Amino acid sequence: MQKILVVDDAEVNREILYNILKDEYIVETAQDGRMALERLQESHDEMAALLLDLHMPRMDGFAVIEEMKRNEWISRVPILIISSEHAVEVENQCFQQGVSDFIHKPFVASIVKNRVKNTIEMFNCKNQLEIRVAEQSKIIRLQEGRLGRLEPFNKMMIEYSSAIMEVETRLKVLNAMFSEEYKRNPFESIKSRLKKPESIYKKLERKGYPVTIENIREYIADVAGLRVICSFPDDIYRLAELLVMQDDIILLKEKDYIKSPKPNGYRSLHLILNVPVFLPDEKKYIKAEVQFRTIAMDFWASLEHKLRYKKDIDNTEEIERQLKACADSIEELDYQMQEIRNKIDHPNSAV
Ligand code: GTP
Ligand code: MG
Repeated sequence: MQKILVVDDAEVNREILYNILKDEYIVETAQDGRMALERLQESHDEMAALLLDLHMPRMDGFAVIEEMKRNEWISRVPILIISSEHAVEVENQCFQQGVSDFIHKPFVASIVKNRVKNTIEMFNCKNQLEIRVAEQSKIIRLQEGRLGRLEPFNKMMIEYSSAIMEVETRLKVLNAMFSEEYKRNPFESIKSRLKKPESIYKKLERKGYPVTIENIREYIADVAGLRVICSFPDDIYRLAELLVMQDDIILLKEKDYIKSPKPNGYRSLHLILNVPVFLPDEKKYIKAEVQFRTIAMDFWASLEHKLRYKKDIDNTEEIERQLKACADSIEELDYQMQEIRNKIDHPNSAV
């Protein structure tokens, strides 16, 4: 339950509000502005809302708002004014000071509950948005700071997304020709993604290189990433071969984790390619990483990927062992399915 603080000098008001709200919130109370500030000093981070009376002895509501602004708590805790005041000027003045809403006396339980609930929800929503905008601005400033003008970076990203389109088109052409010949599709689907700027920076930093356009081109092979999901292992090799055979595609690196699986059981064929991209003024070679795997291997890899990013699992070793066993079963299954397909495709052959 979230905490709220009710500040009113009249005990009866504190009591009524406490009773209305106690089922949904942990309700704390204070009888004047000073006590309220003491509570906020200790725990403004935990308070979901402040219900504040305006007229109180020792320190009134306006002074509390003033102090909250000075401490910058006003952007963290929404304020609802508890008021018998119906003067428009006073209400306007409060809104100008950053107050979120009003609760008028006499209190109507359902109205009080709804106003408090809505205020808290809207305030959270606004805060989340502000955090997102701040993060995005930070990323943009980072790009500008590190890479000078944004234009070269954006241009490079367009080149990478063009490389994705290029590889995708070639694979789709192969798929069409292949399916005409063999009456089935060599791949089920292609997934592609352009690496996010934050991930590019992080990866370069991890590798120990300063963030520059040249270093991104040189050391990050998977800004343009494609994943080709096939039904059968032999389709993977056939497709990869046909792609690499194309005379303007350059194979920079191949990692065959199907023939040599990773110790955890990971199986996929990875190709790092240099792909020609035709720009308005030149033809340029751009790197792209293509991962080929079967449907079952893909299913396995996405589950295993989840495990890597979970920090709060106790029996990781047991799960790793089970995943490895699944990977082995998947390999067996993939080849069994392939054999069955061969028997269906060539019913009279000896193999
Ligand atoms: P990265 O720095 O992650 O790119 O690895 P790398 O440069 O050593 O290249 P590698 O070919 O080993 O891995 C490239 C990509 O393949 C990774 O970014 C993952 O998307 C995927 N991958 C590699 N190993 C695993 C694995 O064990 N499990 C899963 N789920 N994915 C993997
Ligand atoms: Mg990678």
